[in-house]
Amino acid sequence: MYQYIIAALALAVNVYAASSELQIIPGATLTANNYGRHMQAHGGGIIKVDDTFYLVGEDKTNGTFFHNINCFSSKNLVEWNYEGAILSQTGKDELGPNRIVERPKVIYNKSTKKYVLYLHIDGMFYNEAKVGIATSDTVCGKYEFHRSFRPFDHESRDMGLYQEDDGTAYLMSEDRPTGAHIYKLSDDYLDVTDTVYTWKKAVESPAMFKRNGNYYIFGSDLTGWTTNDNFYSTAPNLAGPWSEWKKFVPNGSKTYNSQTSFILPISNDLVIYMGDRWHEKNLMRSTYVWLPLEFSGTNDLDVFMRFHDHWIIDVEKGTWRKGQDEEQYSGQDANLSNGARVLGCANCKDQRSVGYIGGSSSGEALFSKVKANGAGKRMMRIFSPNGDFTERFAGVSINGQEPIRVAFLPTNDADTPDVAGVIVDFKDGDNTIKIQGTGEGWGPDVDRVMVPMFT
Ligand SMILES: *[C@@H]1O[C@H](CO)[C@@H](O)[C@H](O)[C@H]1NC(C)=O
Ligand SMILES: *[C@@H]1O[C@H](CO)[C@@H](O)[C@H](O)[C@H]1NC(C)=O
Ligand SMILES: *[C@@H]1O[C@H](CO)[C@@H](O)[C@H](O)[C@H]1NC(C)=O
Ligand SMILES: *[C@@H]1O[C@H](CO)[C@@H](O)[C@H](O)[C@H]1NC(C)=O
Repeated sequence: MYQYIIAALALAVNVYAASSELQIIPGATLTANNYGRHMQAHGGGIIKVDDTFYLVGEDKTNGTFFHNINCFSSKNLVEWNYEGAILSQTGKDELGPNRIVERPKVIYNKSTKKYVLYLHIDGMFYNEAKVGIATSDTVCGKYEFHRSFRPFDHESRDMGLYQEDDGTAYLMSEDRPTGAHIYKLSDDYLDVTDTVYTWKKAVESPAMFKRNGNYYIFGSDLTGWTTNDNFYSTAPNLAGPWSEWKKFVPNGSKTYNSQTSFILPISNDLVIYMGDRWHEKNLMRSTYVWLPLEFSGTNDLDVFMRFHDHWIIDVEKGTWRKGQDEEQYSGQDANLSNGARVLGCANCKDQRSVGYIGGSSSGEALFSKVKANGAGKRMMRIFSPNGDFTERFAGVSINGQEPIRVAFLPTNDADTPDVAGVIVDFKDGDNTIKIQGTGEGWGPDVDRVMVPMFT
């Protein structure tokens, strides 16, 4: 009887651990399932349908100009599945070659039963400055493009959407000659009907949410692809009065080298800043900086954002906490075979990494005795330098299981590691982790592997 209860408890603990200990790694390469590459969903927004989050963002595989708006789904905001491209380049016109189609945001209209996608539509020199609208019957279906226009003849570049609980929806839009506006949308969301508020300050990539009856708007200065200290303002009503703009990050932090894209409120305790860390010279390697916001002061109107290398999110409970302590395993201490060998790497741990993984000789690095204090899934961080212009790929397997495909974005140079995340299912005690190629040229060089310990 006792044994039975203990077994049941252990099982419950494991299930709890598996579903609630996954971490977000700001700025990491994020390989989406059935996509096999770094998730291409830049400048994106989230829409929740039932218990699933859909991230709709820009595919920058080939750089600035429009190719696809992609849709990815997740139930926990950590593990992502590719759902498909919802809008793709056509032969000509608005969505043709050399066009700018950015900042996709989706809202749902209950009455018309349509998903409505708003976009920034522009020419190759950003000289048209329009907003575009497309609709679909399903959240990640193929969207039909309707039209693009300038709201009340105002320029409209970076934009965001905000939907009220009662269904009324608003467009926030940057207008260089004037500043920034909040426009009310028509009932079917296919047009603007009123200007609700105008700032004399240009606010790029505006993102808004409501918490305890107060509105918070976030945005960025205009500094091109380079980052700045982003800021926010609050108001009891959309028409104002809006507070002075204030930074929500330390002075000079440049928002931890990111730009606001979307704010996702899950609960009062879990409001997530979603920013883009753009890499102008190779936009496909831009990453996602997602961090929890902290509220304080009178009516919680003061917002601050700290950086976390990794942090644990629990979407079901609506809570977050700091990442667990990690055990560190250096590549140079792994058992290397089939030509894999230790290399110099100036900015790696001990100035060493392991190279020649994959390739024609199928080099491998095997880490044995990787400790886990309890069984369950958790996200490891793998540090890897990649001096190429394109991604590299590895198969990462634990305890002899099928390898999981992991992408590694280019880093600044072959001497500077960056981080990629991979979720593996640990058993209690000692585990064996193998990093190998995938048959597509060289795999990543491996600086070190960081394994979170359950707390
Ligand atoms: C990128 O460009 C290549 C070569 O032109 C093309 O085959 C591919 O479909 C493009 N992919 C995306 C996602 O833009
Ligand atoms: C959707 O569109 C209908 C019809 O135009 C409108 O009455 C309604 O308010 C809109 N919003 C929602 C959330 O249903
Ligand atoms: C913030 O940084 C800027 C430039 O880095 C500096 O000019 C300014 O004085 C700083 N402000 C505060 C409050 O530290
Ligand atoms: C390397 O292999 C040996 C023998 O199998 C083993 O004892 C050792 O723990 C391994 N080291 C690593 C880092 O995997």
